[in-house]
Amino acid sequence: MSLIAADIPLLSIKAQNQSLSAEIKEAACRVLDSGAYILGPENRAFDEEFAREIGSPFCLGVDSGTSALELALEAVGVGPGDEVIVPSFTFIATATAVSVLGAVPVFADVDETTLTLDPRSVENLIGPKTKAVVPVHLFGQPADMDPLLALARSKGLKVVEDCAQSHLAVYKGRVTGSLGELGAFSFYPTKNLGAAGDAGAVTVADADLRDRLLELRNCGRTIGATYHHARVGHNCRLDEIQAAILRVKLRHLARWTQSRRRIAALYHEGLRGLPLRLPPLGGNDTRPVFHLFTVRLERRDALAEHLRRSGVGCGVYYPIPVHLQPAYAGLKVRAALPVSERASREALSLPMFAELTDADVARVCAAVKAFLG
Ligand SMILES: Cc1ncc(COP(=O)(O)O)c(C=O)c1O
Repeated sequence: MSLIAADIPLLSIKAQNQSLSAEIKEAACRVLDSGAYILGPENRAFDEEFAREIGSPFCLGVDSGTSALELALEAVGVGPGDEVIVPSFTFIATATAVSVLGAVPVFADVDETTLTLDPRSVENLIGPKTKAVVPVHLFGQPADMDPLLALARSKGLKVVEDCAQSHLAVYKGRVTGSLGELGAFSFYPTKNLGAAGDAGAVTVADADLRDRLLELRNCGRTIGATYHHARVGHNCRLDEIQAAILRVKLRHLARWTQSRRRIAALYHEGLRGLPLRLPPLGGNDTRPVFHLFTVRLERRDALAEHLRRSGVGCGVYYPIPVHLQPAYAGLKVRAALPVSERASREALSLPMFAELTDADVARVCAAVKAFLG
C-alpha cells in the first residue's frame, strides 16, 4: 500500500495547482511562445531565486532529484572504489545515486526521534574508502547536521544533503541545502515545491564545484562553448517550462510551509496522549516542513485499514528499508539497523498538504482516536 483513494486524501496536487491555474498557464504559454526551451532565461531566474530562498550562493536546476544526487556526488569526486554513508530508512534514490557511480552505499541507522541519519551510527562506519556522507532530511525533519558536519570535517569527508523532502526546513537558523558542500532537491510533483513533471536542483557554495556541475549537467560541455567538451557528462538539464512553473510556485512556498507547520501543530493537539509516536514540531531555530506527517505505532497496518474504511487517506513511507530491498540483496550490511527496520514496520503518514482544512484534521484525529480509544 502507498496511496489509498479517500474522502480526505493523503496529499493533493490538484488543490494547489487549481488555485494557481491562471498563473501556471501564463508561465507555460510564455515559454511556448518564446521558442527558448532549454537553459534559457527561466532557468537563470529560477536558479537565482531558489538559491536566495535557500541562502546558498549558487543553484543549478536539473531534471530530477535523482539526477541532483548523482551529479552532486560525482562533482565531489565519488567514483568506483569509494564508499558513501547513507541512511537505510529513505527513498531508494539516496542509495542508487551512489551505486550508479560505481561506488558502494554503506547503510547507517537513523535517529529514533527524527528518523534522520544518526551521527553515532555514521561514526562507526567511516573507513579508509569513505568519501562522502548523505544526510536525508526525511519527511521534512532536518537531520542533526552539527555532529555530522563536525565528523565529516574531522575525517575529510564531503557532505551532500538530500533535501528532496525539506524545502525551506531550518536547522539551527540555517536552511537545509546550505549546510553541507551541496544540497540535492527534488521537485517531483508531490514534493513541497513540485513541478508539472520531473525536476530537481543542486545548491552549492563553492564556485569551482558549481562550474563542474554546470559541465556535468550539460553533456560535459566546456562552460561558454558549444561543441567543446571538457569532460564526460550527462544530459540532466531542466526544461524552461518546468523552470517557469517552479518560479510561480516558489512565490507561494513560504505560505504553504507555514500552513504545513500549522497543520502539524493541530495534529499534535488532536492526537496528544494517544499511544503513538508523533514527529517533532521543532523549536525556534530548528523548523521542520512536514513534507509528510508520519506517526509510528506497532499496530500500523490495522490503523491504516481502519483509516481507509473511515475515508481517510494514509500511506506507508517506506515499507522496506533500503538495505533489505532486492536491489541490494548482494550487498553486505556493515551495521545492525534496528531503528530503520522498526520504522519500516511502524511508520504511517497521515494526510498533509497546505490546503487541508481544520475540519479535515479534526476528522483525521477523530478517526485515529476511534481506533486507539
Ligand atoms: C529522499 C528522496 N531522495 C531522492 C528522491 C528522488 O527525487 P526524484 O523523484 O525527483 O528523482 C526522492 C523523491 O522521491 C526522495 O524522497
